[in-house]
Amino acid sequence: MPGHWLLARMGKRVLRPGGLELTRHVLADAGLADADVVELAPGLGKTAADILAAHPKSYVGVESDPAAVKLTTKVLKRRGTVVQADAANTGLRDDSRDVVVGEAMLTMQSERGKDAIIAEAFRVLRPGGRYAVHELALEPDTLTDEQKTEIRKALARAIKVNARPLTEAEWRERFTAAGFEVERVRFARMALLEPRRVVADEGPFRTLKIVGNVATHSDARRRILGMRKVFRKYRRELTAIEIIARKPADA
Ligand SMILES: C[S@@+](CC[C@H](N)C(=O)[O-])C[C@H]1O[C@@H](n2cnc3c(N)ncnc32)[C@H](O)[C@@H]1O
Repeated sequence: MPGHWLLARMGKRVLRPGGLELTRHVLADAGLADADVVELAPGLGKTAADILAAHPKSYVGVESDPAAVKLTTKVLKRRGTVVQADAANTGLRDDSRDVVVGEAMLTMQSERGKDAIIAEAFRVLRPGGRYAVHELALEPDTLTDEQKTEIRKALARAIKVNARPLTEAEWRERFTAAGFEVERVRFARMALLEPRRVVADEGPFRTLKIVGNVATHSDARRRILGMRKVFRKYRRELTAIEIIARKPADA
């Protein structure tokens, strides 16, 4: 089972590297009020609720996992819709949205997959629209290819997802190659499984529930501790990144 679904099964709701704090920045910087918003890969629908709280004009989620589609649909309470589709092929019209939001979903795509999703975001955005991203990055930009490969392999083994985080320079390059202008980049600690972050993201009661679940499921505990070990080993190289990329007004 991919690491994010294992954590969700244990009760974790925030499944992104920079936690709720970076999500708040991403959503504030995206400019959601009165905007037509698409969220790629809403997962459990936690950010969907935060997007709705910012009063967008409309909300559409695009999620490939049928169970996640159901969960997000429930969260929306008819204030938006979720389509089951690949983020690279949303079925939405050209130039029809103001904001695309995507968290913890580009990192897990192949390089070609990342480019296809970024191109799709560009296609559905109106000129001047924003693509707001919260992902995993590697630092510094000067890491060698061997170091990057070592970290990507260790992550893939622990999370059981082919996580391929990029350096800031590589992320920028992907967006500019697709025609975007990178407007803002911000970083936050990658602390997904650190106790203080779990409490900040989930609150004290849910944290107790998660700890109880992990304590009573030995296989899950082994895997989660294995994930944390890798995150800690590479704590200097792993970071959460926010990118706000704008489709040029004359595109
Ligand atoms: C790590 S979870 C993140 C969920 C949520 N965005 C969050 O930050 O809590 C990754 C999500 O991406 C979805 N996903 C992965 N690849 C996708 C794709 N190509 N198209 C649509 N959804 C995708 C998965 O089903 C899963 O819900």
